[in-house]
Amino acid sequence: MQNPKTLISEDEIRKRVDELAAQISLDYADKGELVLVGVLKGSFIFLADLSRRLSIPRHIEFIAVSSYRYGSTRSGAVRLVMDMRRSIEAKNVLIVEDIVDTGHTLDYLIKMLKSRNPASIRTCTLLHKEHSAEVDVQIDYCGFSIGDEWVVGYGLDYDEKDRTLPYIGVIEPDD
Ligand code: IMP
Ligand code: MG
Repeated sequence: MQNPKTLISEDEIRKRVDELAAQISLDYADKGELVLVGVLKGSFIFLADLSRRLSIPRHIEFIAVSSYRYGSTRSGAVRLVMDMRRSIEAKNVLIVEDIVDTGHTLDYLIKMLKSRNPASIRTCTLLHKEHSAEVDVQIDYCGFSIGDEWVVGYGLDYDEKDRTLPYIGVIEPDD
């Protein structure tokens, strides 16, 4: 199998993450500590880079969800498989996702975390497959809009493969 074709290069990712971090730092300046909630596993590299470039006080938490998906097969059912360790009550929360595809995962997470009474809740995703939306979901910060293709790298995988590629690539069908 050949290497995934580059869709977004390391350089482009770095620049965009810088811009997102600058915007978020500005929006949350003087608002106290921001709780970044990374959605495992896909967001771990994006969250690592984004969080290190913020200039505001921040705290990192992780949650994990399972979306009943194998490979690239879609399904709308989402389940929490690992919760975070701290209460988010009265905190400013930013959910950090790798990619929003149908929107079901983020929709579930926003509803679940809102029920815990945070001071505010916003969302940040590195990638957004705009044309794949099945639910209308709130995205406050978005890195790149992409087409409906399966992407890997920078945290994203295909059946656990290619997660640590430094760029975002597209898997080409075998010929
Ligand atoms: P949604 O619930 O359909 O929006 O899907 C969100 C989750 O599906 C993401 O957090 C990813 O874990 C996974 N996902 C969707 N599209 C891709 C892709 O192209 N590559 C890798 N993972 C993906
Ligand atoms: Mg994800």
